[in-house]
Amino acid sequence: MKRSVFAASSTLAFVAATLAQAGPEAEVLHWWTSGGEAKSVAVLQQEFAANGGTWTDMPVAGGGGDAAMTALRARVLSGNAPTAVQLKGPAIQEWYEEGVLADISAVAEAEGWDKVLPASIAAHMKCEGQWCAAPVNVHRVDWLWANAEILAANDIAMPTSWDAFNAAADKLMAAGVIPLAHGGQAWQDATIFEVVALGLLGAEDFDKAFVDLDPEVLASDKMVAVFDQMRKMRGYVDSNFPGRDWNLATSMVMNGEAAFQIMGDWAKGEFLAAGKVPGEDFLCASAPGEGFLYNVDSFAMFDVTGSDKQEGQALLAKLIVGQNFQKVFNLNKGSIPARTDVEMDAFDSCAHLSAAEMKTSSEEGTLLPSYAHGMAMRGAQSGAITDVVTAHFNSDMSSADAVEMLVAAVANSL
Ligand code: GAL
Repeated sequence: MKRSVFAASSTLAFVAATLAQAGPEAEVLHWWTSGGEAKSVAVLQQEFAANGGTWTDMPVAGGGGDAAMTALRARVLSGNAPTAVQLKGPAIQEWYEEGVLADISAVAEAEGWDKVLPASIAAHMKCEGQWCAAPVNVHRVDWLWANAEILAANDIAMPTSWDAFNAAADKLMAAGVIPLAHGGQAWQDATIFEVVALGLLGAEDFDKAFVDLDPEVLASDKMVAVFDQMRKMRGYVDSNFPGRDWNLATSMVMNGEAAFQIMGDWAKGEFLAAGKVPGEDFLCASAPGEGFLYNVDSFAMFDVTGSDKQEGQALLAKLIVGQNFQKVFNLNKGSIPARTDVEMDAFDSCAHLSAAEMKTSSEEGTLLPSYAHGMAMRGAQSGAITDVVTAHFNSDMSSADAVEMLVAAVANSL
């Protein structure tokens, strides 16, 4: 008798526990592990939990997401895809073509995404007309970050041309200051390269080179000049740069060990997480030249079975594009909201500059996708370009040889 009462109550306890656990669940693969990034993704975790969701975190460290994408491939190949994955640009389409993405059109339609997202962003989120990803933000890549005190002490203004940047860097070197904080990882080399390329090629030729893969522009004298400037940049970094994570490079600017960093505005997330104030402790300016390089983070849902998981995917998609999340997340992340109807009052001067310049670039036709952050082309092509950029940066290869290699690498990747 005693025994069966005990058995009955433990069964009840088991049922209660199971019931408590039932409900939306999500296993989320992402690469947001730095201070600012972790703070930002926590906003989503909290909102998901507050709405009854159970979140299983799958962070894969490594800026730019290369390691996360390798982990994703392994999971999908073993038939065990995570429910939600940080995925961007043409990679969304590539996974869709593999037949492994879930259709989230029902949520998108119920929430009216078409009305609140710019058409250019919505286009990245649709696969053959159906919604296959949810955007969280717009990061700008072509930024110059600086330590305000170092610039003031050396009587240097934020450079508005590459010649002015070189002059400032030479002056800093002479004063014993590291001009450029950089981490020698392929994606960081590619980030500097595309910012220099936009500045020196101009928007039209950048578009031809890195969206159309036009061999003429890839082989042009202007491209030789881009590699010349990259050689200069190599001279402005300290000798400990190989392998350094991007957020450690940001810390160098924060702590006064280096003057500048060229990085997307996730760097601002680091400054802010450390309590630094834009315009006082650090400065932001668009890198010399016209245009705006955008990098939109988004989440794709993978095809999974089980109603708890599918409910979790729907809830996550709804929250991600929700007004509250778009505001709070982006205040932490350094980016600006993807939706157009978010109140911007609480955002800082760098975010306002980003929003204003995104609007004017869009009107002028100089709003361009970031190649280094997987927005402009498919993996085979961007990988081929980055291999050349990094081989040049880490050797004494001439600019002419780099251009020749670039043209061949792109041709071979098509
Ligand atoms: C980018 C991503 C950003 C940021 C950065 C560094 O590719 O879009 O959100 O996380 O990598 O990890």
